[in-house]
Amino acid sequence: MTGRERIVAALDVPDPAAAAALARKLDGHVGMLKIGLELFVAHGRAAVDAVKSVSLPVFLDLKLHDIPNTVEAAARGAAGLGAALLTVHASGGAAMIRAARRGLGAGASGTRLLAVTVLTSLAQDDLDAVGISGSPADAALRLARLALHAGADGVVCSPAEVGLLRRELGPGPLLVVPGIRPTGAATHDQQRTGSARDAVHAGASLVVVGRPLREAADPVAAADALAREMET
Ligand code: C5P
Repeated sequence: MTGRERIVAALDVPDPAAAAALARKLDGHVGMLKIGLELFVAHGRAAVDAVKSVSLPVFLDLKLHDIPNTVEAAARGAAGLGAALLTVHASGGAAMIRAARRGLGAGASGTRLLAVTVLTSLAQDDLDAVGISGSPADAALRLARLALHAGADGVVCSPAEVGLLRRELGPGPLLVVPGIRPTGAATHDQQRTGSARDAVHAGASLVVVGRPLREAADPVAAADALAREMET
């Protein structure tokens, strides 16, 4: 894979017009577009339709976490929107992940299922406070094994544990890594961050990049620099 193909641009913008403008700007410089909760909750299908003129795969980052019946129906809807990737929370449990898989049509729709392990915005004290045992790496590995066993195609994890997950889980699963920050850059609300180059060298399949692209003076130059960084 080229560096460009590994970049997932997070379109965390308020409306479909802004998403379409950013998608057009980044077309040819990233490999995938991610629509998350900000855009999807407010605009639903219109958000997905707005970026269809750009022929890049769309990742629907809805982080579903509900009872299996509800998640199965929601996953069916996501497959119907033509998403290439859909996220659920691994902590929703094995039955919920199997239901999401059924909703996507056992792969027939072409939508791949990703399970979020431990959000990159959480640190050890947050896990302790919500009663998740072990370190973020322990929890990420435990949740990743559960999710893959239940039928997920891959998991979302932070730069800090992608190396461990790749070593333990082998070459098969998709490992998708947000929390990407150039060394020394602002981390915002993210806690477990790292560089794109380190994430890819540790085994990341794709890196998710939001603010470092969106807030760059020149998002295209920022994407090209990231792509080059991952190829060195
Ligand atoms: O702006 P920034 O690069 O921090 O954006 C990261 C993106 O990745 C956001 O769209 C966020 O919702 C998403 N994400 C994340 N942590 C996860 C899963 C997804 O930051 N564990």
